[in-house]
Formats: sequence, C-alpha cells, structure tokens
Amino acid sequence: MTALEDRDYFTDYEILKDPYEYFEAVRGHGPIWQPTGRDYLIVTGFDETVEILNNNRDFSAVIGLAGAAAPLPFQPHGSDITEQLEANRSKILGGDLLVNLDDDAHNNMRSLVNRLFTPSRLKANEEFIREYSEELVKKAVANGSVELIKTISTPFVTLVIADLLGVPEQDREHFMKIIEAAPPPGSLETGENDFSDENHPMVAMAGYFARYIGERMPAPRDDILSELAHAEYPDGTKPRLEDLVALSVFMFGAGQDTSAKLLGNSMRYITDVPGLQDRLRADPSLIPAMLEEVLRLEGSTKQTARLARRDTKIGDLDVPAGTKVLVALSAANRDARRWPAPADFELDRKKIKEHVGFGRGKHVCAGAPLARVEVRIILEQFLKHTSNIDLDESRHGPRGSRDLDFEPSFIIRGLAELHLKLTPSADIGS
Ligand code: HEM
Repeated sequence: MTALEDRDYFTDYEILKDPYEYFEAVRGHGPIWQPTGRDYLIVTGFDETVEILNNNRDFSAVIGLAGAAAPLPFQPHGSDITEQLEANRSKILGGDLLVNLDDDAHNNMRSLVNRLFTPSRLKANEEFIREYSEELVKKAVANGSVELIKTISTPFVTLVIADLLGVPEQDREHFMKIIEAAPPPGSLETGENDFSDENHPMVAMAGYFARYIGERMPAPRDDILSELAHAEYPDGTKPRLEDLVALSVFMFGAGQDTSAKLLGNSMRYITDVPGLQDRLRADPSLIPAMLEEVLRLEGSTKQTARLARRDTKIGDLDVPAGTKVLVALSAANRDARRWPAPADFELDRKKIKEHVGFGRGKHVCAGAPLARVEVRIILEQFLKHTSNIDLDESRHGPRGSRDLDFEPSFIIRGLAELHLKLTPSADIGS
C-alpha cells in the first residue's frame, strides 16, 4: 500500500477530506520535505513558513493560485530566474492578480487595497452587516433548521463585500448568482480556474466593474468604487482601468469562499466542542478569540505556494532558483514546536494571533479585518437568537463520528454543506 505521504495532495480526495493527517505524515520527514517523485518541496514547519513568507527577495508569489504542482511554462536556468519569470508571468494562472504579484507591481496594487479596509470604513459598514445578518439568522431560527453554507454564508459574504465596494443594489442579486456558479479557488476540477476563459463566472463580473468604475471616473460618488476610480499609486501614476477591474473582481473571489467557509468551520467547533456555545453565549466578547483558534486549527486557506527566484535557503537547506514550494499554512498552524497540544481546541491560547491562517508578510490577507468583523457579527447573532445549535444528525451523524463533505479544492478548507438544528432563545422575535 502507498504510504500516506507518497500520495498526491493535489488530486487525492481522501487527503482533501483530511489534509491534516497527510501533512502530519509529511512532517514526519522534517519541516521541509520533497515528496518522492514530485518536483516541489512541502513546508510544514511554523518557523520555516514564516521565513519563506517574509523572504520576498528570494521567493516570488507568482504560483500562489496555480499551486506548487502546476508545471512552470519555462525551464528555469541559472542562479537567478527573475527575468525568465517576468517574461513568462502572463502564462502563469492568475500571474497578474494581486496575490501573485511581486515587488513594485505588488506594492502599487496593494496600496490601493489598503485604503479599502480601514477601521473607519469597516465601522461604518458594521451596521449593515449586523442588520443583514440578524435578518438571515432570525429567519433560519424561525424555521428551526438551516443549511448554513449555501443558504446563509455565501449570500451573506457576497452582499457584505458588494455593499462595501458600492455595487448598486439592483445588480446584487445577479452577483450572487455568478458567485454561486463559480468554482472555489484551487478547484480540483481541471480548467475551472482559468480566469482567461471568457466563460469563467468571474470574467462575467469584470464587465460590471468596468462599467461601475468607468462611470465614476468623470462623476465620482461617495463610495469605494469612486475612490478606486480616482486612486493613484504611491509614485503618483494612475492605475489602468483594467487593473482596477481585475482588483475588484479578485476581491470578490478572494473574500467569498474563505470567509463563507470560516463561518462553517467555526460553527462546527461551536456545535462540537462541549460547553463552547454556552460559554460564548454567556460572554460574546470571547468570539474573536474563538475565531482565531478556528483560523489556526481549521483556517479556510490550507496552503499557498512560492517559487524560489534566486538560489536561497530555508533554514539550513539550500534551495536552488526555480524550486516550487507548497507552503502548508494549515500544517504550520499545527506545528508542535510552536503550538503546545496543537490539535486541541483551546479558547485561551497565548499569542494566538501569530497563526498564519491569513498568511504573513507583504501578502498577508488584505481582507482579514473584514473577515474578522463579518464572521464575528453573524456568530453573535446566531448565539443571541438561539439557546442551542446542533448539527443535524440525520445529515451529519452523531457527535464524535460526523460525516462531513468538504469542498474539492487544494487551497480552500471548507464544508460544502452544513445542516444545523436551531433552538430559539427566549428572546426570539425581539
Ligand atoms: C477567513 C477568511 C479569509 C482567509 C482565511 C484568507 C486567507 C488569505 C491568505 C492566506 C492570503 C495570503 C496568500 C499568500 O500569501 O499567498 C490572503 C491574501 C489575500 N486576501 Fe484573504 N482571506 C480571507 C478573507 C478575505 C477577504 C474577506 C478578502 C477581501 C474581501 C480577502 C482578500 C485578500 C487579498 C486581496 C489578498 C492578497 C493580498 C496580497 O497579495 O497583498 N481575503 N488571504
């Protein structure tokens, strides 16, 4: 029988269901390991992960979306492949998207995003998030049950980002349909992630954003899209319309599955960790700490990837230019050298925010403040309006041996469906 660590992370559906056991088997070979017969390294160590994510000089983010297993469109040669890489960037999946950019191109585009998720902007949006989540939760509680992911999580996060960006209300319904049809990032279904395919659902969205931003160039309004339309890079140059459109679309994509799945993953812990929901109900100020622990234990981004563009090192290991690295964020977050009892859920872990569930370094998740706010607020509503939340045993089996269906993606860790039973609190209707 093939040893677990010799199976293929990128295509094996069992590993997809439980990547943790696989990454532990990989970790058995050390914090950095090249699987037999594969042309990439896997990094499971926490310190090594942080080291790579902070070393933007030697490591390029260009293969973040394509993943470490995808072949490069060129044969790397020499001790510095930067020029080769730039000449081939557009042939790499998503090579021109923010998350895959390097150096000044990344700094420029990132400077645009950093103005979007400011604390004051998020504060202003909190009211919308609270009202909308309360409406969704009350409806579900009145029904006594709900399928969380498709019925609540996905429309919720879609509408929140639509509102934040300033997508007109009449188009929001259509946006939801596009999002519903879109495959998750890192989908295992071949070809589903090809953003250059004009039939890709995200491409349809680009047309809308081009119109919104184009309209706001001559006639700005008081919204984020107007701000983007008139933004300048730090060096004073203006972004091209197509770059602004790509950025807006990417923001929709990046924030959808990840946040929606974080809500699902959190709900699993809330329902399955004995006593947790009562503790959170009694003291909702513990919800942020709970979310960080879920991001560590079961963050919705399992891994990212980097490409060594110069001869370099990770720890003491020599890494030649051209080496692809799978950076297993979810394994770094369970590295026993960093996290005592790493597989246990602990609400009061010290320095929990050091987890790498949102990545680290200059590509650290730009939407993390939004994800934290939106998931916290909707969980507050769930806990406020219920006296008990449980998984539907007829769908998922009893606690201790749950039957759960995970999305087929090598990037996203999240449930395809989560059926809940909801017992109303005494204040229902208030
Ligand atoms: C729980 C929810 C989320 C998780 C776990 C998550 C995770 C991540 C991770 C791990 C990265 C870094 C990837 C890398 O270094 O290669 C990242 C980048 C990014 N995320 Fe998130 N994300 C979440 C929600 C969001 C939301 C809600 C948005 C926006 C609406 C967003 C926008 C972005 C953007 C724009 C980047 C690229 C940043 C850059 O390259 O400079 N994310 N995210």
